[in-house]
Amino acid sequence: MNQDEQKQAVGEYAASWVESGMVVGLGTGTTAAHAIRAIGARIADGQLHGVLGIPTSRASETEAITAGIELTTLGEHPAIDLTIDGADEVDPDFNLIKGAGGALWREKMVAQASAREVIIVDESKLTDQLGGRIALPVEVAIFGWRPEAEYLDDMGAGVAVRRAGGGAEYVTDEGNWILDCAFPPIRDAARLAGMLSRRAGIVEHGLFLNLVTDVLVARENGVEHRTR
Ligand code: A5P
Repeated sequence: MNQDEQKQAVGEYAASWVESGMVVGLGTGTTAAHAIRAIGARIADGQLHGVLGIPTSRASETEAITAGIELTTLGEHPAIDLTIDGADEVDPDFNLIKGAGGALWREKMVAQASAREVIIVDESKLTDQLGGRIALPVEVAIFGWRPEAEYLDDMGAGVAVRRAGGGAEYVTDEGNWILDCAFPPIRDAARLAGMLSRRAGIVEHGLFLNLVTDVLVARENGVEHRTR
């Protein structure tokens, strides 16, 4: 299986866990998109009824509408039964870095509202220590981006304002910027998360700690289910 076939396999596996009547969090990214399409296919087949989806981004909203999934909001349904989302790094304790797709703020709100947070990845996302390979996305209010960038720089991060395709600053669905922060491998993620959360201009960061109940890993020979 190539990487996209692995993403499809793990997305379809996770979609098989959705039951009729569930409120389902719909993640963002190429792997989560496979799950959204698979949920839509099960609805179209008549296998599922009364499923309501809460998308974590405009992109996943579009994907869900195309797939024929009825949508709702956290305002209408503040308790989510099951969320299926991707990740950029997954450590052995089920802690994550997320946000390469720019949807980290909504993704974390949805994760915190979910009884079951299922992360679907291919093997390339597994790491022994967070931060070893990718920069940590930090979402900042545009008003305060510069002092937050300097704060992050003082913490030892290599800070880059994320750019969109045309070279302008990338703007999140919530109207903020993202600072991609290259830290050395993160030894104490909880401490780092605390230091980021205390800043008024930092809206959210991509460390997802103690939020995940299940990890599904696409392997060459099938899907591995890891659970707590
Ligand atoms: C979106 O903001 C991210 O958290 C995604 O969940 C993450 O980038 C995974 O995307 P892929 O499945 O495309 O790698």
